[in-house]
Amino acid sequence: MAISKTDNHTLLMENVVSLCKRRGFIFQGSEIYGGLANTWDYGPLGAELKRNIKEAWWRDNLYRRSDMAGLDSAILMHPKVWEASGHTANFSDLSVDCKNCKKRWRPEQAQGKCPQCGSNDLTEARAFNLMYKTHQGAVEDQASLTYLRPETAQGIFVNFLNILDVSRKKLPFGVAQIGKSFRNEITPGNFTFRTREFEQMEIEYFVRPEEADKYYAYWVNERYNWYLRLGIKKQNLRLRPHAKEELAHYARACSDIEYQFPFGWSELEGIANRSDFDLVQHAKFSGKDLSYFDALDKKRIIPYIIEPSGGVDRAALAFLVDAYWEEKVKDENRTVLKFSKELTPVKIAVLPLLKNRPQLVELAKKIYEDLRKHYACVYDDTASIGKLYRRQDEVGTLFCLTVDVQSLDDKQVTVRERDTMKQERISIDKLREYCSEKLNHY
Ligand code: GAP
Repeated sequence: MAISKTDNHTLLMENVVSLCKRRGFIFQGSEIYGGLANTWDYGPLGAELKRNIKEAWWRDNLYRRSDMAGLDSAILMHPKVWEASGHTANFSDLSVDCKNCKKRWRPEQAQGKCPQCGSNDLTEARAFNLMYKTHQGAVEDQASLTYLRPETAQGIFVNFLNILDVSRKKLPFGVAQIGKSFRNEITPGNFTFRTREFEQMEIEYFVRPEEADKYYAYWVNERYNWYLRLGIKKQNLRLRPHAKEELAHYARACSDIEYQFPFGWSELEGIANRSDFDLVQHAKFSGKDLSYFDALDKKRIIPYIIEPSGGVDRAALAFLVDAYWEEKVKDENRTVLKFSKELTPVKIAVLPLLKNRPQLVELAKKIYEDLRKHYACVYDDTASIGKLYRRQDEVGTLFCLTVDVQSLDDKQVTVRERDTMKQERISIDKLREYCSEKLNHY
């Protein structure tokens, strides 16, 4: 069997985007109104994929550790939060506006000329704050001005004392949170890679200052390996430490975990040493004492913070691209999403070989009803078996269980495995056991 991964990068991206739409992973946002640029809606399978990513992250970073606590803080926060964090003053990109077509560009994109309409009537480059402004309540004045959070992290910092109180955690410990963030990006694009509304998975890990370097290295390694464990190919993942000039205003050190997307190596997640910047700033702006009593040295300290911060949407895109596989089987094209068993949206498909045989359909539906109590399953009888297999391969379903005429006699079904396409007969009464052995990852 000749196996060939699509090597043309543009084509690979086009194929992934088209599969996402065709099979219900990702749709254009507000599509029936002509779409709203750079907004995306996750369809039935995309919603499952994202959920599986978030669950794996939550499980690995919270349930499997004793030094972490979870949080789900509000998107809208007191405007002073953003003054304290430095976002009001510093969270900006340089932009140039075309006075003719009103399109906004980064200065390096519009070198004296608008790339859209060709006009050279451009504004000077000026700082454009990326935070989404909104107003609390009915009156839209300066006093009611607030922002949609551009990162979930600040919700953790402002809850530092609350979490210390309720969890009685001792350093080092972390707080993990998953939630939406918003940035009025000047150049969104590359499908879901850079959008204005996105979801983040962030950990703020509080440590003694003298241990910051050690835990920074630890988290870089931990987070890099997490992507590998969930199936990303090693050759598509790399670490890129930031140069000093590149560091955000709060960071002492930062490394990106980059993925080799079809459009080039790009950031999946960043791990930063934020020092004591955030707690010092919030203590100053709120007037609250945000220090920690260290029983070891019997003194109060301001912990340093190590922050692994990743995007759910970017992770989903990387997992989709990495899983995409094309091959020829008996002169026919087969497209497979080779997701890991944890992430794949559908684990099992139950397929009757003939839909016009009521006994087969009845038996298949019974098996489906039983298995769906335990696993993400689908039932499908709307095409020939060959087509049904291709359909399931294309969305990454791990196993297809086919119920055929013989099943009525020998009480067995054919189990076909996605990657190898190997088939074996399994007793219906052993199916639960079989699935739990194959699918259990906990
Ligand atoms: N709290 C630190 C922070 O927000 P960041 O590097 O700006 O750091 C962290 O963002 C992660 O959030 C990125 O690595 C990326 O995965 C995701 N992210 C940031 N901006 C994004 C955007 N416009 N669209 C999609 N994901 C984004």
